[in-house]
Amino acid sequence: MKKIAVFTSGGDAPGMNACIRAVVRSCIYYNVECVGIFKGYDGMINGSFITLDGKAVSNIIQKGGTILKSARSLEFRTPEGRKKAYEQIKKEGIEGIVAIGGNGTFTGAKLFYEEFGIPIIGAPGTIDNDLYGTDFTIGYDTAVNTALEAIDKIRDTADAHDRIFFIEVMGRDTGYIAVRSAIGGGAEMAIMPEKKVSIKDIVAKLSYNHEHTKSSHVIIVAEGEVEGNAIEIAKKVKKALPNLDSKVTTLGHIQRGGSPTASDRVLASRVGIGAVEGLLAGKTNVMAGIINRNLVFTDFETTITKKKPINKELINMIDILSGRSPFHE
Ligand code: F6P
Repeated sequence: MKKIAVFTSGGDAPGMNACIRAVVRSCIYYNVECVGIFKGYDGMINGSFITLDGKAVSNIIQKGGTILKSARSLEFRTPEGRKKAYEQIKKEGIEGIVAIGGNGTFTGAKLFYEEFGIPIIGAPGTIDNDLYGTDFTIGYDTAVNTALEAIDKIRDTADAHDRIFFIEVMGRDTGYIAVRSAIGGGAEMAIMPEKKVSIKDIVAKLSYNHEHTKSSHVIIVAEGEVEGNAIEIAKKVKKALPNLDSKVTTLGHIQRGGSPTASDRVLASRVGIGAVEGLLAGKTNVMAGIINRNLVFTDFETTITKKKPINKELINMIDILSGRSPFHE
């Protein structure tokens, strides 16, 4: 293999740049030409390629966002779009591809490989941590730490005013960011798709706590929660407990930016090298991830279809750490 391309796709995640750098530097190490594709699959369709040498990735390991930019391509979902992309890849002489992204990115990568046979390996880049085949995804640790910093600050004002704060964190269909930021931030409750909590339960716990133990509360809400978003949940609770002062903060895209943590930089570098070495060893149609500290390749099919469950122990910890509740009476 003499020419490898790398691109980032889907929601950006802190550490994507570190991964691009690792791909480029691995290519140099193994004497392979490296090309960057701008704006994900859209760039592949339009032939937006740029040669990446060692210098092109200097001074980016610490930067959030992605120097290659990202997109969610609608055109690539069509057979015509993928054909156009294949023609551009062929024309450019690209023999292998590293795709940095999440589930949507790998769904496209799998189809592309099946249709045109260009070897492709994924690197897990999403703050959501919802990919099967890796313990953690690039950007998750940074996103949790960003959420935590905000939660700590909100805790100060919640305490000063004896208020309930509903803090919404990201994680499209999953509570990974919610569970870790709730434990780290000492939240009284976390509401997420992986744990059913009814409005009745929330109200019961809040009124019990208010009477017996606590004057302020931080409740983390995962954006994918089925009971509704933080604003809707807060409204329902307010209806049942009109005398309790409550506020809502949606952390939003602040969780996607910023300088990656050490863990994210190391993870990104490791899977970046792993992806290039995997391609050179003849692997394809797989994602490079880290499981129990080892580099592991998992079929795209498995990564896309299997759900990585949140450890129940972590979810239970939130209840234990938040003190007595009416459920234990
Ligand atoms: O997948 C990462 C993520 O940040 C999710 O947590 C969130 O639901 C989604 O992307 C937001 O996407 P966008 O930036 O397109 O609004």
